Amino acid sequence: MSSSRPDDRSRPAAATENPDDRRGGLRGDLGRFPHVPLQFERLPAAEMVRRAEQFERLLRSRRSVRFFSDEPVDRRLIELAIRTAGSAPSGAHRQPWHFVAVSDPQTKRRIRVAAEEEERESYLGGRMPEEWLEALAPLGTDWRKPFLETVPWLVVAFAELHGVEEDGSVRKNYYVKESVGIACGLFIAALHNMGLATLTHTPSPMGFLAEILGRPRHEKPFILFPIGYPAADATVPDLERKSLAEIATWNPVADRADRADCADRDEGDE
Ligand SMILES: Cc1cc2nc3c(=O)[nH]c(=O)nc-3n(C[C@H](O)[C@H](O)[C@H](O)COP(=O)(O)O)c2cc1C
Repeated sequence: MSSSRPDDRSRPAAATENPDDRRGGLRGDLGRFPHVPLQFERLPAAEMVRRAEQFERLLRSRRSVRFFSDEPVDRRLIELAIRTAGSAPSGAHRQPWHFVAVSDPQTKRRIRVAAEEEERESYLGGRMPEEWLEALAPLGTDWRKPFLETVPWLVVAFAELHGVEEDGSVRKNYYVKESVGIACGLFIAALHNMGLATLTHTPSPMGFLAEILGRPRHEKPFILFPIGYPAADATVPDLERKSLAEIATWNPVADRADRADCADRDEGDE
């Protein structure tokens, strides 16, 4: 999938997201949006920390689930998760996503059969490089995906590679992968928050999903989400997450300057 960047980075894009453009003359499509007062709730400091800790605890308890119960899930909950995903930011506000929700058993079966065909070829037919298979081995996954039929809902997130105007002409989208990735992150968080389980599933290649679900050629399957309640005896791999120190760096430029300063002073002391 192309990341849909404007091809020539040296030329200014027609509709830019540079905040400077909000005050100086508006250009292109952005000029069409009237500005309204921002709705923003300023919270007391202690409340900010309380909410932040609660949210972090909640999201850190999320796990990818591969063993589901067939207990039904109200369609309203799936709608709310998709609405939450649809609140994501997107390049030039193109909202380049489409979510297809499936609960009918025949379609779920077709998706399972097609996904397992692809996965069998990937795992056993030599399509996955040895290195990838080794990376997956600790998770204990294989080509079999029975959960695709067990779950009450499958939701497929599609990425719109470009938009289509009413007259059929192409409308360019920007940062498609980034935008759909963020929307999917919000979708996963929404499901977890409402007490449902899911798996970020990418049975590669995923072209069969567009075919089975009858999506147009400019939409590319992005992620297949089985959604439901975990099976009573569901297990998950015992994984560790990287620590804050491993995933974050603070003020690297200032710190480098400080260290250089100290080294200079140390040298001066000698
Ligand atoms: C982009 C992406 C693709 C993934 N594809 C698969 C997949 O096809 N099958 C699968 O079992 N898990 C898949 N996963 C789930 C990861 O294995 C899982 O997120 C990881 O092991 C961490 O576990 P956790 O989600 O429980 O924290 C995928 C995750 C991501 C982010």
